[in-house]
Parts: sequence; C-alpha cells; structure tokens
Amino acid sequence: MSHSEHQAAQKKLETAPPAPPLTLVIFGAHGDLTKRLLMPALYNLADMKLLDQDFRIIGIDHSDDDTHRWADSLTQTIHSFVGDHTAEFHPDRIDETAWSWITQRLEYVKGDFGDDATFRGIGDKVVDRNCIFYLAVAARFFGPLVERLGKAGLLKETPSAFRRVVVEKPFGRDLPSAQALNAQILKAANEKQIYRIDHFMGKETVQNILALRFCNALFEPVWRREYIDHVQIMAAETIGVEARGGFYEPTGALRDMVPNHLFTLLAMVAMEPPDAYNSDAVRDERAKVIEAIAPVQPQDAVRGQYGAGTVQGKPAKAYREEQDVARDSTTETYIALKLAIGNWRWAGVPFYLRTGKHLKTRRTEIALHFKPAPVALLGAQQGNVLTIALDPEEEVAVRIDVKTPGMLPRLSAVDMAFRYADNFPVPSRVGYEILFYSVMNGDTLLFQRADQIEAAWAVVQPALSAWEQDKSAPEIYPAGSAGPKAADDLLARDGRIWESL
Ligand code: BG6
Repeated sequence: MSHSEHQAAQKKLETAPPAPPLTLVIFGAHGDLTKRLLMPALYNLADMKLLDQDFRIIGIDHSDDDTHRWADSLTQTIHSFVGDHTAEFHPDRIDETAWSWITQRLEYVKGDFGDDATFRGIGDKVVDRNCIFYLAVAARFFGPLVERLGKAGLLKETPSAFRRVVVEKPFGRDLPSAQALNAQILKAANEKQIYRIDHFMGKETVQNILALRFCNALFEPVWRREYIDHVQIMAAETIGVEARGGFYEPTGALRDMVPNHLFTLLAMVAMEPPDAYNSDAVRDERAKVIEAIAPVQPQDAVRGQYGAGTVQGKPAKAYREEQDVARDSTTETYIALKLAIGNWRWAGVPFYLRTGKHLKTRRTEIALHFKPAPVALLGAQQGNVLTIALDPEEEVAVRIDVKTPGMLPRLSAVDMAFRYADNFPVPSRVGYEILFYSVMNGDTLLFQRADQIEAAWAVVQPALSAWEQDKSAPEIYPAGSAGPKAADDLLARDGRIWESL
C-alpha cells in the first residue's frame, strides 16, 4: 500500500466516537504492565482522539513518588520503546502533543491497598464521576481490592456515574480458587461491572475469527466434523521466563496460557454462530463451547521443561538455572493437550493445543486440518489446512493442492493468503486499546464472563490434580527445540503430526 492509501485507510478505520468522560484509577502505577502496555494503549487512544477532554488518570501504588516524577518516568519509558522491535509497543516516533495530552491528566497517589484511608482518598477524588478501577497488580490483590472498593461504596453506580472494574490475569489458579474469586468479586459488584481481561481478545486477528467464519458464506458450511479432521492451536514462544521466575514458578505453562489464551482461541474457532454481535449473545456461545469440552484425561496432557540449549543462535540456560526458580523445579514450561468437544459440530474431531517457552520459533496460530477429498483424482493430496496466524505474521491462509505445471498429472501444495499488512495500515498497537475503549463504553463482549472462566478451569482441573499427586519432573527439552518428544507421541498415537515449527 502507498503512504497516501495507508493514510486514507487509517482515517476510515478511526471514525469511532470518543469515550465518555471518566477517571481511570490504576492500582499498580509502578508496575510493568502499566509501563509496557497500559500507557502505550492510552497514548494510542489519545493519538486517535478517542478520549474525552475530561479524562483523568489516577495511579496508585505503595511507594513514595509524586505526580511529576511518575510522569517523568513514564515519559522516559515510552520514549525508550521507539524503534525497539523487541517491545510490544514499538512506534517510529512519539507524537509529543498526544503524549503530553496524557501526562497533563496524570495524578499519582501513594496508598496502601490494605488501608481504608486509601479508598476514602479515592472516593473524595471521584465523587459523581464515571470511574474505571484497573487492577494491574499481583493476583493475590484482586479479591481484597474489589472487596475494599465495595466496602468504601466506590462500586455503587448512579445514573450519572458508572463504576467498572478491570481484573487482569491469572484469574484463579484452579477451579476452586477461580470459583472463590468470582464469588468474592460478585458480592461487591454485579457481573456487568466486571471486565476480566484476556489480552488475546484485544488482537485484531482474534476478533477477525468471527468475521471470517460468520461474515463469509464460504467457510462455515465446511467448518464441522464432516469436513475437518482435527484442529491444532499453538502459542510457541522463543523467550524464556526472563525475570518472571517468581511468578512463573508456582504458575507453569498450563495455568499461564491454557484456560485463558488458548481457550480463547479455541472458543472463537469452535463456537456456534451467535444470534447477534452483542456481548450476551457472543459470550453465551463462547461459554457454551467451553462447557462442551470434556475434562482432560491426564494421559492426554504432556508436560515439558526447557533445559539448556541454543535459541535462535544464542545460548540459553536451563529453566532450573533461571532467577527465582528452584534447582529441582518440576514446573512445566511446555504443555500439550488433546481435547474433545462433545457437541454435534465437533464430536470425534480432536483439538490439539500446545504452548511453550524457549522453543525454536515464535508462532501463534490455529490450523484447521481438513479431511482429504474423497477421490484421489490426481494422486496423493497434501490436504487442505486453513491457518489463522496471529504472531509474528497476521494472516489467514489456506493450503490447497494445485496441479503442478507440466506434462504429468501431479499435485503441489500452495498457499492462498490474506495478510493484514498488505491490505490495512498496521500501526504499533498493543491490543489494550480496544480493551480500554470497550470498558469505557460499557461493552463486555471482549471480556471473560464468570461461567466461561470456571468452565475452562473445570476442563484442565484433572491434569492439575494428577500433577499434584505425581511429583515426577516433566520431560526436559533442549531450549531452542520443538518441545518434548512426548508431545510428538501424543499425536503419533492418533497417526498425526504437529505443524512444523
Ligand atoms: C501472557 C503470559 O499472558 O501472555 C506470558 O503471562 C506470555 O507468559 C504472553 O508470554 C504471550 O502473549 P503474546 O501476546 O506475546 O503472545
């Protein structure tokens, strides 16, 4: 696309109306999430003129700071992202007008999350104002913070002031804790006030799955057991646990990625068509399909942990050598699952999921493998595969068999592809822009409802319970490889292989 075509397309994309006036209260002002993702997203919204003039941000954290210093450190951080392609947000430049529009609206408040005075102080600042409370804090604070907000009367809505709470992940660490957290939160607020984030829902490629499936007549008729052999969903990462050992060690790959991100992808690809594009209709269907997944059998769950190796040419140490990780850790950094969905559309079609750290390549994608054509007219077929790629490519591709040019009737597999970058401008977005915009406008469609979250934990609970009993270590795979051998065996048992990494 030429530059002027890009600009014209950009204009067309951003005619959404600005959000209403509101105060955004961020618990965890000094946290990594605030710096890396929330502020860039707010800056992008400001740049797109999607925030109201009367928009304010209050940042709360335990440590000493003041508004000036906080603003200065955020300014430094956002500028450090320019041109840094390893950061989620990597703009070519920062528009100073848009950024100072944000910094003028910042206020830092030092406050203890366990002290009633903190909440009284917030209350005084947001009288009669629309308010979003964003819990960008460690998961142990979620329940107590919502309880205190409720106790302080801050979640009481009036016709002129909405009150909404955004809860980050991880939402619980198993089924009982997720149920308890939902119960605790829903005592203080009603479901419509709660926005449980899964940042995968902020990705255009994920939202596009519903457009692809339900706004084209071509795909949906074959999107079912009669035509699909199996589905693979993967989130392969090249990064290790980095500095997050403290979080990762008691969490592991399954809790970190599966009931949230991978199930989000599964729900989007496997759900029934909603009656309408609204929150209730779409969330009903997402929850229904997760509820239809049979609890995973422990023999259908494979764990791995990375050992030392080489990732993309660079030496990588073993997980057990990472900071804040036990030297005899049994935490999994890789997980593969085989799942069965017990409904008319999917009965008999296995869904294979895998995710891991320090793998050979970075790739997040869904691949629907179709059954072969019933008659092999031109000899052996490779078979059709429809791939929805999220990362690093953003594309939808269909692998098809075509006649190889030449005298002989032979087939070759080629791709028909739609690439975002070829058709639309792809500015540096972090995915939180649309999530913020949705919360501001009271749209819960992209967020996880209590029933969906609990249904997801119910599916993985048998594996979690089995591992609690079985203290043996996961299979070690070399960093930079395609994962543990047991994961290949999981598919080989069914006569199938993983998409290559
Ligand atoms: C986070 C996990 O939720 O998602 C990380 O905690 C993981 O461990 C990340 O790396 C992956 O997200 P993305 O958008 O980079 O694929």
